[in-house]
Amino acid sequence: MPCRLSELYTDVTAALGGIVEFPRREAELLLIAYLQKDQLYFITHQDALIDENDPKLIEWIEKRKANVPLEYLTNRVSFYSREFYIDEGALIPRPETEHLIDEVLARVSTDEVITVVEVGVGSGIISIMLALHLPYTRFIAVDISPRALAVARRNIEAFGLSARIELREGNLLSCVDEKIDFLVSNPPYIAHDASLESNLSYEPQNALFGGTVGDEIIQRLLAEVYVRKIPSFVCEMGYDQRQKVQEYLKPFAVQSLEFYKDLASFDRGFSLKVNHE
Ligand SMILES: C[S@@+](CC[C@H](N)C(=O)[O-])C[C@H]1O[C@@H](n2cnc3c(N)ncnc32)[C@H](O)[C@@H]1O
Repeated sequence: MPCRLSELYTDVTAALGGIVEFPRREAELLLIAYLQKDQLYFITHQDALIDENDPKLIEWIEKRKANVPLEYLTNRVSFYSREFYIDEGALIPRPETEHLIDEVLARVSTDEVITVVEVGVGSGIISIMLALHLPYTRFIAVDISPRALAVARRNIEAFGLSARIELREGNLLSCVDEKIDFLVSNPPYIAHDASLESNLSYEPQNALFGGTVGDEIIQRLLAEVYVRKIPSFVCEMGYDQRQKVQEYLKPFAVQSLEFYKDLASFDRGFSLKVNHE
C-alpha cells in the first residue's frame, strides 16, 4: 500500500525510537538513501507516495532496528567531505581519522616525491585522501584482510588512483621491501576484553581489536620504525595510549614526538620523527 513520505517518516522514526541515538535524523537519512534522493527532495516531497511494503525498505528498517550501521545498509559513507563505498568487509571510517589526514598533510609538501606506506588500509580512505592531496607521492597500502582490500580496491578505482596506490595483502610490513619515507596507520587499538556498543559487532573484529592490551600493533609498528629506519610515522591511537607510546619510545632516539587530539579533546594519535643516523 502506498503511503505519503511524511507518514512513512513518522513510522520509521517511531520504529527506530529507543534503539538509535537520533531516530528522526536516522529515519531521514535511511529514507533519503532508500529513495536515492537528496535532502532537498526529502523536504519538498513529503506528499510523495511510497510503497511502504517494498521488501528492500522493510529489510533496511529491520536491520537498522537490529543496530546494523546505516552505512552498511546504504553501502555509502562520507569521509573528509568525499563519498566512499563501504560494506561489512571494512571498518566504517570515523570522523576522528580526518585528523590523521591533516597531521600527514601538515608534514609533507605537495611537491614531494616520496613513498608512503599505509598499514591497515581498510576501505582505503586514508591513502585515497592523501593521494588526492599529494600528487607526486607513491602509496603502498597493506591489509591483512582480503575483504577489506576488496573494498579499498573498489574505492581506489572509483577515484581513478589505481596507478598510484598499490594494494598488498600482508601482515604489517612483511610484504614491503621498499625503502619507506613515511608510514601511516590507523591500526586496531582496542583491548580484546573491552565492552563495546552493539553496533560495533557488525564491523570486522580484526579492524577493532589490537590485542590483549590493545596497543600491541602500535608497538610493533613503532619497532618497525627503528628496524626499517623509517623517518616519519603518523598513527592513530586510543585516547588512553599516550603514556604507553611515550614509555615504549624512551630507550630510542626521537627527533620529535607530537600528540594530536580529536574534536572531543581526547588524545587520538601521534606524529613521530626520527633521525636514524
Ligand atoms: C582500524 S581499521 C582502519 C581502516 C582504515 N584505514 C580507516 O582508517 O578507516 C584497521 C585495519 O587494519 C587491518 N589489520 C589488522 N591487523 C593487521 C595486520 N597485522 N597487518 C595489516 N593489516 C592489519 C584490519 O584488517 C583493518 O582493515
